[in-house]
Amino acid sequence: MNPWWQSAVIYQIYVRSFADTNGDGVGDLGGVRSRLPYLRELGVDGVWLTPFYRSPMRDGGYDITDHRDVDPMFGTLADFDALLADAHALGLRLIVDLVPNHTSDTHPWFSSPHRRERYIFRPGRGDGPPNDWESVFGGPAWSKDPHSDDWYLHLFDASQPDLDWDDPAVRQEYAAVLRFWLDRGVDGVRIDVAHGLVKAPGLPDAGHAGQDHRGGILPYFDQDDVHEVYRDWRKILDSYPGERIGIAEAWAPTADRLANYTRPDELHQAFNFPFLLSPWRAEAVRAVIDQTMRTNPAPTWVLSNHDVQRHVTRLGSLDRARGATLLMLALPGSAYLYQGEELGLPEVLDLPDGARQDPTWRRSQGREPGRDGCRVPMPWTGEAPAFGFSASAATWLPIPPDWRPLSVQAQRTPDSTLTMYRRALHIRRRMTGPLHWQDAPDGVLAFTRAALTCTTNLTDRDVDVVPPGALLLASTVLAAARPTGAVCLPPGATAWWH
Ligand code: NOJ
Ligand code: CA
Repeated sequence: MNPWWQSAVIYQIYVRSFADTNGDGVGDLGGVRSRLPYLRELGVDGVWLTPFYRSPMRDGGYDITDHRDVDPMFGTLADFDALLADAHALGLRLIVDLVPNHTSDTHPWFSSPHRRERYIFRPGRGDGPPNDWESVFGGPAWSKDPHSDDWYLHLFDASQPDLDWDDPAVRQEYAAVLRFWLDRGVDGVRIDVAHGLVKAPGLPDAGHAGQDHRGGILPYFDQDDVHEVYRDWRKILDSYPGERIGIAEAWAPTADRLANYTRPDELHQAFNFPFLLSPWRAEAVRAVIDQTMRTNPAPTWVLSNHDVQRHVTRLGSLDRARGATLLMLALPGSAYLYQGEELGLPEVLDLPDGARQDPTWRRSQGREPGRDGCRVPMPWTGEAPAFGFSASAATWLPIPPDWRPLSVQAQRTPDSTLTMYRRALHIRRRMTGPLHWQDAPDGVLAFTRAALTCTTNLTDRDVDVVPPGALLLASTVLAAARPTGAVCLPPGATAWWH
């Protein structure tokens, strides 16, 4: 038997947008707990929770004040334990987020006598910052320290100072935090900015503006020495029973460099962002799949998360999104789903400016809309005020009034996106075997895995295909067979045959 995680489908929950139980308009751990049966029925194997730790929420909880406690906004540690127990009782694994690159500036360390060892302070150059590094959220990666003449580094918001991983106390603390959550019983950790902890010695200039934070070669990302940290953590993970896993959120310049994070003595998985970023073209998608399979024997696949435009909008249509999803779910390996994608939710592009909370919006002076549009709360029912997400109409981000037909309740119909996901996840449990590409018309991808064939039309026109077997599932209703026996696959469609 292969380890559980090698084929697992993990459902990402953005806690503050999933379900609210106390009517404050913000999702909470109780809300997650109350909806576990929905996830069980959907057919996923586990859940990854985005940060719910104590935080001033300047970056949606990726700015942590206390790694060992639940923010009162989300509940209590007892709520977490109850949620974990229920998840396990339902056979669902639970993964939590670990954020080691930075803390919040409200973390006690940042105002302690040790702040200069724990974080990265440097004198400026003339009147300017110590080097030319750019924050992922826009603007310089340095801010003036209010308590000295120096500057401190923050690869993200100014309220998220970067830790100095040369300091043994930082390493010890995170090993202890990892153990804290493993001791509580979590099945794994998703590691935020896993490629960022170690910076090039001497903090040299990047040498150019417009630094590419999604795989560019940069002195603050993907340094060789970062892997030492994951070798240590792997030992910790392996010292617990039951195959606890680590998943890297890492951006690397090449597939081979990305695969370094999943060497046998490092982490188990790394998110496959090249797949997510691939243009909707047959050669491009096939190249990414081939490159993934070549570099990683136990790959992951992902199309949406809380940091990118939802794939319905990014790919340009619900048809393509559904087709892309069925393509992804037929690939060998593990898949990550983002809450709401099973409803076919689009990105919300017209949030009022005043509602936007992502620091990217502020730091780019409104040039970048930021990531709030994929973080809008889930619609559960058709009911006012908040489609079952909350008893309050004042949800932390407004839910578009036209989302009623997208709600879970409204999608209990045979052809809905939700039903397609359920069926796909059910069928997927029986899929086995390696991928073999098959001949297909231009712009169409076809592959088999044992007796299953998956065919996707990535063109913008109808394509006739000869059915390689009986139809198991399709991302859209397929037109009746033509006299020749061929079946018409509309643009964006994927079909599974057996
Ligand atoms: C990646 C997280 O997914 C994102 O939401 C966060 O803003 C940055 N890391 C910084 O922690
Ligand atoms: Ca709440």
